[in-house]
Formats: sequence, C-alpha cells, structure tokens
Amino acid sequence: MTTSEHQPLSSLIWKQDKLEMLDQRLLPETILMLKLYTPEEVWEAIHSMKVRGAPAIGIAAAFGVVLGAKAYDGMGTPGWLDHVKSICAHLATSRPTAVNLFWALDRMMQKANELAEAGTSIEDGNAALEAEALLIQKEDEEVCRMIGENALPLFENGMGVLTHCNAGGLATAKYGTATAPMYLAQERGINLKVFADETRPVLQGARLTAFELQQAGIDVTLLCDNMAGMVMSKGWIQAVIVGTDRVAANGDVANKIGTYSVAVLAKAHNIPFYVASPLSTIDLSTPSGDLIPIEERAAEEVTEGFGKRTAPQGVKVFNPAFDVTPNEYVTAIITEKGVVRAPFKENLAALFAKEEA
Ligand code: MRU
Repeated sequence: MTTSEHQPLSSLIWKQDKLEMLDQRLLPETILMLKLYTPEEVWEAIHSMKVRGAPAIGIAAAFGVVLGAKAYDGMGTPGWLDHVKSICAHLATSRPTAVNLFWALDRMMQKANELAEAGTSIEDGNAALEAEALLIQKEDEEVCRMIGENALPLFENGMGVLTHCNAGGLATAKYGTATAPMYLAQERGINLKVFADETRPVLQGARLTAFELQQAGIDVTLLCDNMAGMVMSKGWIQAVIVGTDRVAANGDVANKIGTYSVAVLAKAHNIPFYVASPLSTIDLSTPSGDLIPIEERAAEEVTEGFGKRTAPQGVKVFNPAFDVTPNEYVTAIITEKGVVRAPFKENLAALFAKEEA
C-alpha cells in the first residue's frame, strides 16, 4: 500500500459539540474512536494515555478548553474568563513532562484574555476559542511537514534509521515529528529501513510506530529495546531520530524513557542522533534538562502490563516515563524553522529571537 492510497488514522477529530479521540491504548488490535464531551473526560484521557505524544496532548487539551467554555452557564464575560482559567489550570495537571500541554493551554488562555478585554460576547468568545483550537491542530500538521522537509536532506536512500517510542502521526495532527522524514522519503522514492524500538513498558514503538509505518507501507523492523546496541554494532543503523516532550534552553532533551540509552549507544557507534522538535516543544524558560519534571507512572505498567503479571507481587518498582539526554549526545535538533546544532544554548536562543523579530 502506498501513502497516496493509505489514509492515516487521525488521533483527534473535532465535531463541534464533542472531541472524537482514537483510543491509543487499544492499538493495534482495536480501532476505537471515543466521544468526549467534557474537559474532565479530556483530562482523564490525557492522564491515562488514551491520547499521548506531546503535540497531540496539547491539541486535545485545547479542545478540552473549548468543551468547558461552551458549557459555561453563568452570566457575563468576567465569570466566563474565570471559568476558562480554572479549566486551563485543571487540564494542566493531567501530565507534567510534555511542554506542549502548557504551551497550548497558555495560548488558549491568552486568546480568552484578549477576547474578554475586547468585551466579546460569550457566544463569540466560545466561537473564537474553537477557531483557536482548530488552528493549533492545523498548524501542527504544517509544522510536522516542515520538520520532515528540513530533516530529509540528512537521510539517504538505503539508510537504516532507528527510532524510539512513537513520535508519529498518532502523536501529532499528521506526519509525526521523528516520522515526518520517513513519510516524505517514501513519497519521494527514497527508501529508508526503519528500526522501531518496542519501548517498554507501554510499547508505543511496537503498538503505534510499527503499526502506523507498516500501515503506510514503510519498511519497518521491530526491535526489543535491548537490541539497539547489537543492530548498531552490525552497521545496520546510519541515523537515529526521536521526538521529544521538552527541550531545555541548553539543548538537553526529555523524551520517552530509554532515549538516553539509545543516544549513548549512538555516540559509541559514531551514529548521528537527531531530535525532531517543533518550536512548541522547546522551553527556553527551563535552563537545563535536570529541571524538567519527569513523570513517574504506576508500578503496574512494569509488573503487569497488558494484563499479565511478569514480576513478583510486592517488588519495588521505579517507573519514570521519560529521561533526559544531555545535549552533548545530540547531533542536531530539527525544527520547522531549520536545523539547530551546537552550541545549542546560543543557537536555540537565536532561532527564537529571529522568530520574534
Ligand atoms: O508517554 P508518551 O507516549 O506520551 O511519550 C511520547 C514521547 O515520548 C514522544 O516521543 C514525544 O511526545 C514526541 S511526540 C511527537
């Protein structure tokens, strides 16, 4: 099946009174679109990872704000604004690491403030918030496509490319971040041989990345996480590309647990380690990676993932969902505005300064 024949699954579809959400916990076996009507349902869906992946979490939260704003039954814009503020504050507690969540909520709050200041009616305010959420989703599609365009020159026909977790179309509005060059390469007849780490403990690589790339007809081989070093030593990998949940101002990168190990292995084998990141994932207000909040999730993900007990009852478990790769392991950060290399602190700051100018 080629890309032109294949219609990728959308993880989030807005339907005016509800948000339709692909339940990513059930993939690849079951394709179920959930119907969410309240911000509380959106909070739960983010928290339980029915929707996951930094950009998708941000988009879902923006639609959660719209659902909550539309349900406001009080009088007057100041009350509406307080209501929107409390919805944003609540949604911000759903997961801690992906900065796109806070980025999208800040953007929705800023819009609500502007509307209230302009004396907009509640009805028009709700329509404008809905338009803003749809814009965030639309922009993400274009951002991901541009990341793909900027990344593509780094890849050559026949290369082996390893990725970790799912930074794919399912984690974004379309194309993904780390997968965008894979989709564009396929469209342009450049054959990449993708290796997807299965990504313990929730298996986003196996359940999601292998699934969406296979659906698209891209050459993908699934690996257990502990096989990456072996395939690198065999010379099968010419580049690593991963997504990210937050890039600190100095270029340290938080991403799915296990990314750091892959980066160290890549350096040991002289393989470039690329990070695909929208500007919305770069957090200049966090100076370095040690200040990025790292989510810890339930022990059961490790001891009885997918309903089968694989560890003794009562064993102590450490289950961080993310790790931080120090910037010295990062070859380049690929954004929609270009490719950033070391020194990251200076070059990331310059990229944002150019954007704001
Ligand atoms: O816990 P998850 O599945 O939300 O973690 C997702 C990742 O780590 C992705 O690599 C990251 O969010 C980038 S998605 C474009």
